Amino acid sequence: MSNINYSEKIPNNVNLNEDKTLQRALEHWQPGFLGWWQDVGPESSRGFDVYLRTAISVDPSGWAQFGYVKMPEYRWGIFLNQAEKERKIHFGDHLGEPAWQDVPGEHRANLRRIIVTQGDTEPASVEQQRHLGLTAPSLYDMRNLFQVNVEEGRHLWAMVYLLHRYFGRDGREEAEALLERRSGDANNPRILGAFNEKTPDWLSFFMFTYFTDRDGKYQLCALAESSFDPLARTTKFMLTEEAHHMFVGESGVSRIVQRTCEVMNQLKTDDPGKLRAAGVIDLPTIQRYLNFHFSVTIDLFGADQSSNAATFYSAGLKGRFEEGKRTDDHRLHGATYKVLDVVDGKLVEKEVPMLNALNEVLRDDYIKDSMAGVARWNKVIEKAGIPFRLQVPHKAFNRQIGTLAGVRVSPEGRVVSEAEWKANVDRWLPSEADRAYVASLMGRVVEPGKFANWIAAPAIGINRQPIDFEYVRFN
Ligand SMILES: [Fe+2]
Ligand SMILES: [Fe+2]
Repeated sequence: MSNINYSEKIPNNVNLNEDKTLQRALEHWQPGFLGWWQDVGPESSRGFDVYLRTAISVDPSGWAQFGYVKMPEYRWGIFLNQAEKERKIHFGDHLGEPAWQDVPGEHRANLRRIIVTQGDTEPASVEQQRHLGLTAPSLYDMRNLFQVNVEEGRHLWAMVYLLHRYFGRDGREEAEALLERRSGDANNPRILGAFNEKTPDWLSFFMFTYFTDRDGKYQLCALAESSFDPLARTTKFMLTEEAHHMFVGESGVSRIVQRTCEVMNQLKTDDPGKLRAAGVIDLPTIQRYLNFHFSVTIDLFGADQSSNAATFYSAGLKGRFEEGKRTDDHRLHGATYKVLDVVDGKLVEKEVPMLNALNEVLRDDYIKDSMAGVARWNKVIEKAGIPFRLQVPHKAFNRQIGTLAGVRVSPEGRVVSEAEWKANVDRWLPSEADRAYVASLMGRVVEPGKFANWIAAPAIGINRQPIDFEYVRFN
């Protein structure tokens, strides 16, 4: 168990001080990172004291320390899970060979691309969320936002470490480019679609951390299986932090649902107009936000059939979710999988080689997991005695990538005409009016223990602190 030396500029458990060249390269990158944080990180947060957890080791029993951190003095560190002794490759065509401690030349370009694509999402989400601190519905929520933001920053560090340490000059250039792309920028956007969308309000933020951070979980889990051992160890530790991000999303939406149900019962109405007049978010609007974030996020898994996915798997670069727990041959030659196709205006399943369908395999695992939290939101509605249920839309709904791109499909999974789509899109996806209404509710609440009218208080505080704890101190 290596502990972290906090006197070092960059906290780490990778013996950075034994590799002076690497240390200097990262110390050279660090000011660029801080400049990026200053430019497009959390707006007007400078000087706030925020009650944050900081990763200080990878020991499962005590990996984080809580305390006030003055923004932006968070200690972004580099942590890899402990190495497994004599780890073997456990899937693909190299199955049984020793895991790689260095990058094999023939896989260099693909591994670099995988790491850059993952790395790019981390700063992207910080950029997307940068204005939200100005409208936090409580100090508790503001603290959670900043916690997610600093940890996405640390995840960028994690990927940049791999680029600097294992990819030489191209790696250093990619690390610079990660600080140059900007979410939503027409000329130099982030790599993946969902990371160029806006996160303009807190309902979007909670949906994003529930659905899109969960995409992160599935990608990281697939990379945690990688034959490239440093990537596997890095992503394993990132998953430790990711759990909290998804908790923020799930509990955030749950608290909004809870508050809406309370007001529905007080006013004995399900009329969205009356509920909006009472200052809460009606359930059909929450459903439309869910439809949007779910559909945009499942596109992140890529095309349903992809020769790249097959190559990444067979080469041992990226496994399946929980590869080690599966009982097939872990090579998948000859195996098949069902993907969707459109034939004569109808969705049909067709059987294709599983190796080519591994994006779809991961997407389907993700969808199963997403549905579990939606069922928990429905429990809140059910408990309130309200006959409404949120639903995860059909996976063909509102897709932009793969076979289903451009096919108009209703949330129930019926192929519809362009005219029917246009007539209904404002019932299926957030309309301008929905977004304007949700935006009108946003306003910063700063009194400890107080919450905006449209969201319930959480059940418990952070790190066993009370709910009215001063999670953020403005100076
Ligand atoms: Fe992340
Ligand atoms: Fe995250």
